[in-house]
Amino acid sequence: MMDTPTLALGPLLHEGKAKRLYATADPRLCAVEFKDTATASNGRHQVRLPGKGKLNCQISSHLFTLLEQAGLPTHFRGLLGDGWMLVQPLRMIPLEVVLRNRAAGSLLRQLPTVPGQPLEPPLLDLYFKDDALGDPFLSEARLDRLNVVTSQERIQLETMARQVNSALHQALGRLDLDLVDLKLEFGRDGSGRLQLADELSPDNCRLWDQRQSPDSPGRILDKDRFRQGLGGLVDAYKEVSQRIQALGLKPQHHGSRVRL
Ligand code: ADP
Ligand code: TMP
Repeated sequence: MMDTPTLALGPLLHEGKAKRLYATADPRLCAVEFKDTATASNGRHQVRLPGKGKLNCQISSHLFTLLEQAGLPTHFRGLLGDGWMLVQPLRMIPLEVVLRNRAAGSLLRQLPTVPGQPLEPPLLDLYFKDDALGDPFLSEARLDRLNVVTSQERIQLETMARQVNSALHQALGRLDLDLVDLKLEFGRDGSGRLQLADELSPDNCRLWDQRQSPDSPGRILDKDRFRQGLGGLVDAYKEVSQRIQALGLKPQHHGSRVRL
């Protein structure tokens, strides 16, 4: 039997709360390791949840594949094995783009809204991605002042974010998964083209199980299980992963495994 070829990792480029990013011998590719940790309150509350990294990697690779097939450019370049994926390194734009299809989370604390109220068209909120400042909400004027995107790029970024949300909302809806909201990050490639980056997993979105009654805590299949101390996060992510497999997408495999 032939051994699976290995891919040697270069230096660790970034260690964040949920992932590690490594250089590889190919400057066009970075390796991303999904960690088994869950954090809340900007990293102040942290636990280890074995299996979570692998599930988030699987879910993300399927959803990036779905978006690529819909013609939306993403950084995903293939799976590398359990919990690892290859991505195109990008110059990241320090914005968190949040799309809200229903009222939940911080919106309920900040506007007089009914929990679960549909938001049509989806609400798009921008936050400055800066841990030290607590990822503050941005007004138009503050975004202008930050100077992290041109006005043309901002339009492109918002259009792409709405397309991503709409494609995911539709596809997940077919699996009885209600995409309540999600957070996206974008970066620019060498020629300045915008691409969707980071991850697409239940760590970064709210997913409600439409097969469960609206008041049941069992309908929460995302990181709110951890934020609200409900337990059962890994089982919930497994459920999401299994349903997404049913879409029949075949994320590209790089054909090698990581050599640490
Ligand atoms: P954080 O840094 O917010 O704690 P993570 O643990 O998820 O988050 O770390 C992943 C980091 O990698 C994030 O800072 C994210 O912006 C960045 N990133 C995601 N995709 C890419 C990419 N394609 N190229 C460069 N950086 C990326
Ligand atoms: P919010 O209700 O706390 O504003 O969150 C909206 C969505 O964004 C929710 O799906 C969780 C996600 N999110 C992140 O992925 N990272 C973050 O740092 C924050 C604040 C929210």
